[in-house]
Amino acid sequence: MNKNIAVIRGDGIGPEIVNEALKVLDKVAELYGHTFNYVDVDMGGVAIDKWGDPLPQEMLERCVNSDSVLLGAVGGNKWNDVPGYMRPEKGLLRLRAGMGVYSNNRPAKIWPQLASASPLKESIVQKGIDFIIVRELIGGIYFGEHKTETVDGQSVATDILTYNEEEIERIGRIGFETALKRGKKLCSVEKSNVLDSSRLWKKVMHRLQEEYPEVELSDMLVDNCAMQIVKNPAQFDVIVTENMFGDILSDEASMITGSIGMIPSSSLGNSSCGLYEPIHGSAPDIAGKDIANPIGTILSAAMMLKYSFDMAEEADAIEKAVSVALDQGFRTADIMQEGDNLTLVGCSEMGKAIRNNIKR
Ligand code: IPM
Ligand code: MG
Repeated sequence: MNKNIAVIRGDGIGPEIVNEALKVLDKVAELYGHTFNYVDVDMGGVAIDKWGDPLPQEMLERCVNSDSVLLGAVGGNKWNDVPGYMRPEKGLLRLRAGMGVYSNNRPAKIWPQLASASPLKESIVQKGIDFIIVRELIGGIYFGEHKTETVDGQSVATDILTYNEEEIERIGRIGFETALKRGKKLCSVEKSNVLDSSRLWKKVMHRLQEEYPEVELSDMLVDNCAMQIVKNPAQFDVIVTENMFGDILSDEASMITGSIGMIPSSSLGNSSCGLYEPIHGSAPDIAGKDIANPIGTILSAAMMLKYSFDMAEEADAIEKAVSVALDQGFRTADIMQEGDNLTLVGCSEMGKAIRNNIKR
């Protein structure tokens, strides 16, 4: 197959981790006879510096016109003082909205090789951690009105959180469909004891449940969910939640699996053109040192093959190669531990170890 992939290297460690993912894709292309064409896209801080805009229209168009988008990470201290609408992250939000990718899928799964890297007690980890957070991605407080004004001589800041039924219903469906393909348990997370938007959320989820009688639906308040994720993560199969709750809970969920550097994500809307990115940030403190973990990005590329290009076998080959590289003892600094037979490697060496293990 011939596919055009828009590639956003971004800021900080973005270029290093994306380069490793592209080399993995090249290896897959070679083994399976595909052609992947990469189209460079500037977004984030690098685009602010070059074009004065975190996502110029032309760059958005390159993404929308591609078969899928692979992204490293954006942001950094250098752009902390620019106005909100110009921040690197704004480029990412505009990209998500411009591509219409409302459904963000963030798996939290423990790799057996990394079980001891989890900060949780062994007795909790042993019960298993394998769930998915389905996060609404283009609505809610991220996309409501943001303003800072002066009232009675002091600054007053406002951010508005809005959801309509249609937005809740379409992400709710993804939650139910995802649960159907897995353990058939869906936990809807909200703050309905305080927020109107959450009460509407809950109502729509229960209405939808009538269409999915095989799925067991439960409701959980977001503060309780934050607690349950560390207390008893084995109880979860699929969590569906709004944008900001999903942002926060997915960082927490990633941490209990060992390292945020391991977690990929997919974002999809109504077409097969998706956005694939690791869930971690641009980590400017370790940028350019060749010590970042490229696995989250490499696994994001695998998700792209599976969900956007229908290449499940190729995706499995990448996942297996990651697993073998971990079995062989290769560890980047974030997942390094005391122990026999573990080798501390940098970003490029980890990429190479994975590439060498991709087999058809
Ligand atoms: C994420 C990130 C982004 C978000 C930032 C960089 C805007 O934290 O993808 O989780 O909040 O969505
Ligand atoms: Mg986040």
